[in-house]
Amino acid sequence: MCGIVGYTGPLDGTDALDVVLEGLRRMEYRGYDSAGIVIEAGGTLSVDKRAGKLANLEKALTDEPLPSGVTGIGHTRWATHGGPTDANAHPHLSADGRLALVHNGIIENFATLKAELASDGVEFTSETDTEVAAHLVGRAFTELGDLTEAMRTVCNRLQGAFTLLAVHADAPGMVVGARRNSPLVVGRGDGANFLGSDVAAFIEYTREAIELGQDQVVTITADSVDVIGFDGAPAQTTEYHVDWDASAAEKGGYPNFMMKEIEEQPRAVADTLLGRTDANGHLVLDELRIDEAVLRSVDKIVVIACGTASYAGQVAKYAIEHWCRVPTEVELASEFRYRDPVVNEKTLVVAISQSGETMDTLMAVRHAREQGAKVVAICNTHGSTIPRESDAVIYTHAGPEIAVASTKAFLAQITACYLLGLYLAQLRGNKYEDEVRELLRLLAEVPDQIQQVLDGIEPVRALGREMASAKVVLFLGRHVGFPVALEGALKLKELAYIHAEGFAAGELKHGPIALIEEGLPVFVVVPSPRGRDSVHGKVVSNIQEIRARGARTIVIAEEGDDDVVPYADTIIRVPRTPTLLAPLVTTVPLQVFACELAMAKGLDVDQPRNLAKSVTVE
Ligand code: F6R
Repeated sequence: MCGIVGYTGPLDGTDALDVVLEGLRRMEYRGYDSAGIVIEAGGTLSVDKRAGKLANLEKALTDEPLPSGVTGIGHTRWATHGGPTDANAHPHLSADGRLALVHNGIIENFATLKAELASDGVEFTSETDTEVAAHLVGRAFTELGDLTEAMRTVCNRLQGAFTLLAVHADAPGMVVGARRNSPLVVGRGDGANFLGSDVAAFIEYTREAIELGQDQVVTITADSVDVIGFDGAPAQTTEYHVDWDASAAEKGGYPNFMMKEIEEQPRAVADTLLGRTDANGHLVLDELRIDEAVLRSVDKIVVIACGTASYAGQVAKYAIEHWCRVPTEVELASEFRYRDPVVNEKTLVVAISQSGETMDTLMAVRHAREQGAKVVAICNTHGSTIPRESDAVIYTHAGPEIAVASTKAFLAQITACYLLGLYLAQLRGNKYEDEVRELLRLLAEVPDQIQQVLDGIEPVRALGREMASAKVVLFLGRHVGFPVALEGALKLKELAYIHAEGFAAGELKHGPIALIEEGLPVFVVVPSPRGRDSVHGKVVSNIQEIRARGARTIVIAEEGDDDVVPYADTIIRVPRTPTLLAPLVTTVPLQVFACELAMAKGLDVDQPRNLAKSVTVE
């Protein structure tokens, strides 16, 4: 939610404009309502900022380039306070025009601070909360003559969540950043240093990164990085090497990131499984640093997450309860802490988040830990806030997910949940080692099965194109197929702006069947007929019921399931997969369908309207 980039390099080095613009291109997925940039050179700040996508700013800069300089900051915005206009775009300037500042997050006490500044005669040129911080840091600099100290002093007055970056005309060659509850990482280069909302901002230049902690201020110059706490004391930081290369954040010949990331799913699942067994084939989760005795004593598991990640949690519930016999609840993170949930030392909370920065999930993690629960994060972003604030982490290894709508991270999250479930089952003695080994063997076959789905996906693409004018689409599923149906509906809503709903197939007769009318497209995720206690027959009956009422039935069924044939207008085949693992394959056609349909409508599938990756506000 808002992307931030900062750079400063040697005097004879690369033009900061090029570095910051390139960083903004990679950060645009975080917010794309407006974009802006400031270059500091020779005691002057030059600013350009535009409403709309980054392309608007790029065009303006081509028509009228900014003077070159070696220090700059940039911002892509997801509007919170004030609409997406040129005036509200960042950077914002202090009253004397000597300081420029960009911000991600929400300054909750901005109204009080604004009133204070206004009564002092400060005139505001935007409707943003950010402008308050620009004026405050500008004034503090005038008083203190030191940008780091000015930033630190002001941060102590701000409430809420924020990442701030600032440059000052009288502090040449320097960028100062600060963070609270909002992401900021440092890229340490050779004679040049970088700041970014995530490492993609500077991955082209360096893979050496520094994690910043909560309530820290960082000052970069071309050859130094200094970090202090909001209390002024030198701060501890963690350095790490980013092990994915720059091409992972490129489209690599695909029309968009979404298609690329869908195609990367076999790899994402395989990589998430990699290195999880010891020489004897026993499951080990090195990143899970919670005492085994504590894990054995857990009497309830609560999964917290938002959106797509919460559907991964719903799949996890089926698997974990079945394998471990521990009651497992799934809760939307945004609801969790506000309903006074019953969690204590015997509760294991599993927080699932691709970005590791989702504010709703972070707040739920904090609440759970305050109640004494242990928290395991399942996360795709190394060094992000949620794993840092959890007791343990299982990293998914999906690689960077740039498209705003989640695909490969979802499958990787489900995979990590299976690993956690199997680990707990092994540890708590619910499953014998050979049973776990057999399930791991079956899981290891899934990447190939996903690949088979992708290899035969053309008819699904054609279906997406053919249905580009659909107004409403329903999705039905049962058991683990239910969260898959919800995910199918969410993908279609967010990518194609089509009204789509996912229902538990068994619930149909309790109300939603009233929606069925002639020609209404309904996807049905059919469970395997082979599973014990399979609900296959019941779902086949549901298909008959809706078809009898005129629905156009589009059925996702495994190879060899002939029972569906008489009632399906269209059949999408997926390989035979054990019931609990099936979401890893049945989700894929639904992702491709939504993506292709949205592309046929001419929509931007990587950056759907009103959305942003990484929702860092509550
Ligand atoms: C939907 C989507 C969102 C995210 C949700 C949680 O395609 O991407 O629903 O899943 O905002 O984000 P993370 O996983 O970063 O916490």
